[in-house]
Amino acid sequence: MTDRGVAPGTSGFRANGVLSGQVAVVTGATKGLGLAIARAFLDSGASVMIASRREVAVNETVASLGAACGDPARVRGMAVDVADLAQVEALGKAAIDWHGHLDVWVNNAGITAPYGPSMALDPRQFTGVIHTNILGTYHGSLVALRHLVPRGQGRLINILGRGDRQVVPYLATYGASKAWVRAFTLALASEYRATGVGIHAFNPGLMRTDFMTGTEAIAGFGAKLRALRVVLRLIGTDPEVPARTVLWLASRATEGKTGLDKAVFGRIGLAGHAAREGIAWVRGKVGPVELHIREVPATGPSAPVPG
Ligand SMILES: NC(=O)c1ccc[n+]([C@@H]2O[C@H](COP(=O)([O-])OP(=O)(O)OC[C@H]3O[C@@H](n4cnc5c(N)ncnc54)[C@H](OP(=O)(O)O)[C@@H]3O)[C@@H](O)[C@H]2O)c1
Repeated sequence: MTDRGVAPGTSGFRANGVLSGQVAVVTGATKGLGLAIARAFLDSGASVMIASRREVAVNETVASLGAACGDPARVRGMAVDVADLAQVEALGKAAIDWHGHLDVWVNNAGITAPYGPSMALDPRQFTGVIHTNILGTYHGSLVALRHLVPRGQGRLINILGRGDRQVVPYLATYGASKAWVRAFTLALASEYRATGVGIHAFNPGLMRTDFMTGTEAIAGFGAKLRALRVVLRLIGTDPEVPARTVLWLASRATEGKTGLDKAVFGRIGLAGHAAREGIAWVRGKVGPVELHIREVPATGPSAPVPG
């Protein structure tokens, strides 16, 4: 069931109209990957309900997505904190009331704590990650499956991240939350295997989004992130690349499957991508990615800064 090859099937995948007539919810969709997923879904014919916490950003994003797809009636939005079950339930109700059904739910909203020793974090930074990444995924999965399981169709797609299957020092809170998301998603897929609902986990890989370029670090640890300028250029992607795999997961191409555990690239795909980016760099077409790393004070015991 586990398949970590190059985003499979997507090379010959024709996106045109694949979600025509479907209703999709995408959380965390005012920027980054969520915005790219919303765009890809709209371009493929879906009606899309976007959500994030800031109402102004939601309204602006709805307006710009509506204008870009040429059919503003196919995009709506709601200010929602996924950490709050009542708000996620209201989001689900609004999406279902819109056209009487819901077909795809993507739990994409995710945050990280400042990079650094886990015990140096303010406890609120720790719980913030748990509330958004773990509770948010649970709430979205609950609301989506309440509707999808009785209908015997649809897709639930949960977004993974670094740490979903490995230990990540200095990003332990985030990494552990994504390990939880993966374990939870694949367990749900197993529990609801016979229902006809496709429940999938997807790791989008390193992306050049605010999440990475505008990150925070515990005081003394910002310098360790400087290499990201190069790493993000060579092995990072723009979010449109993984969004295409999410569209594929949401489409009929995965009909009859559940428990897919995908990454945007397998090893060979990643090497090819890095080589292409490297060549573009040598030719002067791209350069290092600009970072805005903000250091924040440690509130608990810190650790020696590695040489
Ligand atoms: N960037 C990467 O390299 C990378 C790599 C692997 C996995 N991922 C995962 O991919 C997903 C998207 O990442 P990204 O890079 O696109 O992040 P991003 O650019 O920071 O965007 C995050 C989005 O989530 C929203 N959000 C955050 N907390 C929320 C909450 N509690 N409730 C509702 N919305 C919330 C944000 O809007 P508001 O702040 O207005 O709420 C924003 O729209 C995350 O799950 C992340 O863990 C990212």
